[in-house]
Amino acid sequence: MSDEATLTRLGDYRTPAFRVRHHELHVDLRDETVIVTHRQEIHRRRTKNAASDGSNVAEKDLVLNGEALDLRDIRLDDRPLDETAYRYENDLLTLHSVPERFTLTTRVTLRPDENLELSELYRSNGIYCTQCEAEGFRRISFALDRPDVLATYRVRIEGDRASHPVMLCNGDLEAQGELPGNRHYRQWYDPHPKPSYLFALVAGILSMTDKRIVTPLGKEVRLCIYTEEAFIGQTDYAMQALVDAFAWEEKRFHLSYDLNRFNVVAIRDFNMGAMENKSLNIFNTRYLLADTATATDDDFRAVRSVIGHEYFHNWTGNRITCRDWFQLSLKEGLTVFRDQEFSADMNERDNERIADVTTLRQLQFEEDAGPLRHPVQPREYAAIDNFYTATVYEKGAEIIRMYHTIIGEEAFQRGMRLYVARHDGQAVRIEEFAECMEAASGYPFTGRFFAWYTTAGTPKLTFTAAYDREKRSFTLSARQDTAALSPRRALVIPVKFSLIHPNGRHHRFGDGSDSQLLLLDQERADWHYEQVEENPIPVLMQGFSAPVYYDYDYSDAELAVIVAAATDGFARFEAIQTRLRRLFAMALENTSQLSAHLDDVATMMARVLAQETRSPGEKALLLELPPVAAFLPHLDAPLDIDKVIAAHERIVHGIARRLRRRWSDFLAEDKAETLPGYSVRDAGIRALRAVAMKSLAVFSNKALREDFFRAYENADCMTERINALEALNQCADGARARALAAFYENFADQPLALDKWFALQARDPSEGALERIRALVEHQAFAIRNPNRFRALIGTLIHANVPVFHRADGAGYRFVIAQIRRILLANPQLTARLIGGFAVVARLDAPRKALVKNELEPLLVVAGVSVDVREMIERTMNGIR
Ligand code: BES
Ligand code: ZN
Repeated sequence: MSDEATLTRLGDYRTPAFRVRHHELHVDLRDETVIVTHRQEIHRRRTKNAASDGSNVAEKDLVLNGEALDLRDIRLDDRPLDETAYRYENDLLTLHSVPERFTLTTRVTLRPDENLELSELYRSNGIYCTQCEAEGFRRISFALDRPDVLATYRVRIEGDRASHPVMLCNGDLEAQGELPGNRHYRQWYDPHPKPSYLFALVAGILSMTDKRIVTPLGKEVRLCIYTEEAFIGQTDYAMQALVDAFAWEEKRFHLSYDLNRFNVVAIRDFNMGAMENKSLNIFNTRYLLADTATATDDDFRAVRSVIGHEYFHNWTGNRITCRDWFQLSLKEGLTVFRDQEFSADMNERDNERIADVTTLRQLQFEEDAGPLRHPVQPREYAAIDNFYTATVYEKGAEIIRMYHTIIGEEAFQRGMRLYVARHDGQAVRIEEFAECMEAASGYPFTGRFFAWYTTAGTPKLTFTAAYDREKRSFTLSARQDTAALSPRRALVIPVKFSLIHPNGRHHRFGDGSDSQLLLLDQERADWHYEQVEENPIPVLMQGFSAPVYYDYDYSDAELAVIVAAATDGFARFEAIQTRLRRLFAMALENTSQLSAHLDDVATMMARVLAQETRSPGEKALLLELPPVAAFLPHLDAPLDIDKVIAAHERIVHGIARRLRRRWSDFLAEDKAETLPGYSVRDAGIRALRAVAMKSLAVFSNKALREDFFRAYENADCMTERINALEALNQCADGARARALAAFYENFADQPLALDKWFALQARDPSEGALERIRALVEHQAFAIRNPNRFRALIGTLIHANVPVFHRADGAGYRFVIAQIRRILLANPQLTARLIGGFAVVARLDAPRKALVKNELEPLLVVAGVSVDVREMIERTMNGIR
């Protein structure tokens, strides 16, 4: 780990000794330079023993953050400060012996064009744009840049009328006007006290669409979406999603918006997905633009969910924010839970849950098993940017879901109301949220349950069952294995389960219901049930009621009953996954029974395909064969990745061969009409066809390949194009090349479509893939300064092309590191994220570890490598050494 002194620790938290009530900012846009004049009203906190700001300066001093700022002027109560009254060094501005209450005015000059990091203030395609979370504001001006310092902001932006006709900031527009020299100004006031990380500013030539809505409380709100003119026609869906998000939050959470205007801006060069700045959300175009010509059904779904997520932060994040960054999951875990529920209510609930669990397992379980593991509430960090992780987000959301599962919707909503009533306008800890839920429900969430936040690792549950025929009693036993946890201790695990009989009927429990919620709060427990008919099959962890691994020794016949009859969609899905994981284990061991089991699973799948009561969307989820990455979290280290890949291939081919007739009959007979636009139904139909095509695509039959090519040509929406391309992508032949060329020609002016073109080729599974991928970095459309493009090629290779990335000769690793070196100094945040993709190597063989170590180690000595990149390399290498 890095130098001890550079770590920030949860235990070192001190309440700030100073408060800032209000900021007045004057931002003068002068092209290459931007002049920021900043006046802040500061006063000392009135408590007995207010300690200093975690540093060792005397209390009389005020210490502000300010990174690499070009300080031009500094005044205290409007009088210039002489050089002895302050010190600016090591990214801290210290003012000596300040009065109880005063105003500080500073002026700095920024050079956004030299900023390639895409954080703080930068320019993307001529548009000024900010990204402050978590600690970017300190690169715009001096501030107590920490989330527990809340203040109002008034911002006056001045710029050239022609090059910056649009100038946006947080809050409502207060004044605007003309200035000499073809310049103009806009003045924004945000009356809601907020931390500096929610500050945002956008200026440039932007087109806008707007919509006025009236909230149920009778408040009129103007929703405005801005983007470059060329893309403004692709914002209708996002606008509708925003309207849906407003309505949904009112209905389900009884929360509504608190300003007259809500602005959303879509930017092309953006490190993250989107950012919830108060009333000025900034989006990566990828999560905002969507029309049928350029966006797939998955894109439409993602747009709606991210629009929801950022909007929902207005309450869970902005109005109630985090005391410090160790509480990140307070806002992110809760807001992910809320966006998941939004999507579940808008789409098919069970299918959404299946998709969320799949993401959780692939990303978070894997993270929790490797060198990057950390608790949802971390205890220390070098760079907070590195803790926007699957653990903080997805596992954090699972913990919120467990509250909800344990106490139910009604008590959960009571807890939410209490949380808002108690903490609106405050910066709080995760503990405060747990206290509200506890007070609203009576369940002791601040007790043993709280360990979910402070424990790293994924528990393993083993269930056993016993049936006593004479007494007609059934006993379910659970044991939790805490070996993978740190610290080791039993967690409180909600187990939602039901019993079904081999004929498919559900058992009714004594209370009349057909499912039970059990809480396993020790290492082991037994539950007894009387008056149970013969041979009940337990359907466990319904809806995936806790983020754990679990195991029960089902017979294959029992799993088939669950697939056919369970009322819980997740349970049906999981029964198939269980069979697939068993197949996988057999394929790994090369057992002779593999073939018979493949027959059996294929039969089960054929039955699902034929089942009329299942929606096409569900069938697609049940019948899709998971990628290699989905099996990895379930396997113990050290993994022989070559064997894993071979086993995966054997299963995919084995099933595809057995279902070949079924799938081609299905494609020939399926006449369901679809519209090109997104709807749950049509997306489901297209998804199932895609599974069929992908399954058939393992055969490189000429006629079939021509069918796929025709499917590409006849596609009437991007989803169908991509599905055809995906099938064609399985074999590097002429049909693939023709389709890729056609796609490029068609979409050369659509950046988001081109990202798909690169990503598709990054997933190339065929012989010679790395050579083809290598050629793509020379392609004229490859752009290393655009994070979407870089992730499309390099990120996809890391995460979705296991055989190529992990090539035994190390060529995959070498190629990726050579590309990462090109952005290492310019965009540290993107670099740090991509380096995290190497963590999985900690669970692979010694030769691969050595290869990766050889690649990563030299990066540490590159001059100027940033703290966040260094931390990620060091943590990743901890598992590799
Ligand atoms: N607050 C984050 C944006 C962010 C991420 C800021 C990382 C600083 C560092 C935002 O609310 C968010 O969570 N965005 C996600 C998308 C979301 C739907 C999960 C993102 O950008 O990936
Ligand atoms: Zn978020």
